[in-house]
Amino acid sequence: MPTPIGIVCSGASESSATVVLYDGMEKEVKNESLVLIRNRNGGNVLAVCRGGLGINESLRTGAFTPGVAYAKSRRVPSSVKEYFLFKLQVIGEINDNGISQNKIIIAPTSTVELFTDEDSPMQYLSKSDLYIGHYWGKPSWRVPVLKEYINYHIGVFGITGSGKSYLTRYEIIPLLRRAGYDVIVMDWKGSDYATYFEYVLALNEIKVDNQTVVKYFSSITRNFGYIDREENPVAAAVETSLRQVDWRGRNPEQSRQLVLQRAKAILNESSGVKEETRKLQVSRLESSFEIITEEEFEKFLGTIEPWEIFAKAKDKGILVIDMSRGIKEQKLAVFLAITKYLKRLMENKQVLNIAIVIDEGPQYAPWQPRGMERDTTDMIMELCALGRSYGLSIVILSQGMAGEIGLNAAVRRNLNTQFIGRIHPLDVEEAQKLAASYYISPETMLTLPEGHFYFLGRMNPSPIPLLISFQIR
Ligand SMILES: Nc1ncnc2c1ncn2[C@@H]1O[C@H](COP(=O)(O)OP(=O)(O)OP(=O)(O)O)[C@@H](O)[C@H]1O
Ligand SMILES: [Mg+2]
Repeated sequence: MPTPIGIVCSGASESSATVVLYDGMEKEVKNESLVLIRNRNGGNVLAVCRGGLGINESLRTGAFTPGVAYAKSRRVPSSVKEYFLFKLQVIGEINDNGISQNKIIIAPTSTVELFTDEDSPMQYLSKSDLYIGHYWGKPSWRVPVLKEYINYHIGVFGITGSGKSYLTRYEIIPLLRRAGYDVIVMDWKGSDYATYFEYVLALNEIKVDNQTVVKYFSSITRNFGYIDREENPVAAAVETSLRQVDWRGRNPEQSRQLVLQRAKAILNESSGVKEETRKLQVSRLESSFEIITEEEFEKFLGTIEPWEIFAKAKDKGILVIDMSRGIKEQKLAVFLAITKYLKRLMENKQVLNIAIVIDEGPQYAPWQPRGMERDTTDMIMELCALGRSYGLSIVILSQGMAGEIGLNAAVRRNLNTQFIGRIHPLDVEEAQKLAASYYISPETMLTLPEGHFYFLGRMNPSPIPLLISFQIR
């Protein structure tokens, strides 16, 4: 049973109130405590305590009071005129089916009660049988989530060491599985997931399509010597050559020679090109191939096709792509190869019921994408749009939210559920927007302990963010 802790003060509205605490209750009620307001105007209202205040009339500052004089002379002023307040942010009115928006003004003098460990207030939020972690400080209060918004995509934010990968490993992936999604994890570092799950593929085992291989070559050779992103005859010749010769399944030296010679022939055979231009093209091809070495070819000799990866994820439930051995562009190339296939399936109206976990999100979709990042950023946005209709959920982890350290803004707009852990000081401005709407102070967000996240957005049945945590096993 909830225990009474105080009453509502003057100035309450239908969405917020202030409680003055009974004597001694200031030691029980904490920031983020959940309470029940028994509204004298009708209804029971679920609310969360945010922003406490201790007041002592004898110790007011701004003028010289007797209390201040006492304090100056090292004596303790009377605590008779001392009281404690907490701001209450309303979650909603409790009814038979859960909660709904509270529309009745909360009457001053309404009683406020604190839920105890034995109560289970989470049941009011939703009847969902899917949960994530537990409410802050209450391991037995599992927080319900709304399954129907999983494919409206998920963002996990927090500075390094805030517990993003742990949250994903211990809570989000199991949640996705329970909701019927199979999961492909892009493990950028190769240490967060690859060692914890059974089915793991390495980068160089995966077959990357020719078009993406050309994108990769182009990214390491500065677009074969042309202006960035410009369509160019050398890239086209290399792509045609990759398509025409049987370069996979050979030794890298042979593969490279075959592709180079064929591309050279294509340039030499093209009609209607001035001799001078042709020479320039061949020279650009040759100098590009000084950078496209055997080792570069070796990266793309893998044979596992994207459709096999999809089938394996469907079969095994969780498949991890270990990206630790590879340079950034190669990782992006593999990501593109896999997602291109998934995109095609969705364009053919196939429902996937797959989730893709993208750790280190800004590597794929930074604030200002360059080179191949532009392709991966565009791809993620397209996957997000299609995924809402065809059961693909995108889960992106990022150390920063906005600006230079953050995730691309257009991508971020697609992440309708967010878990926000301890933030970077550079994200304070972003945090202030939250703070203003929900009474969460930026200081709180800057100092959250590891493994603590504010849960907000579509999957959260509560219209206001809830502080959650989880146990590591
Ligand atoms: N719920 C939790 N309870 C206790 N400790 C936790 C919890 N979650 C995470 N930690 C601790 O925090 C550490 C960092 O977690 P994690 O590796 O998930 O951080 P991260 O946010 O992914 O960091 P990075 O951005 O560097 O990848 C873990 O090694 C673990 O010790
Ligand atoms: Mg991590």
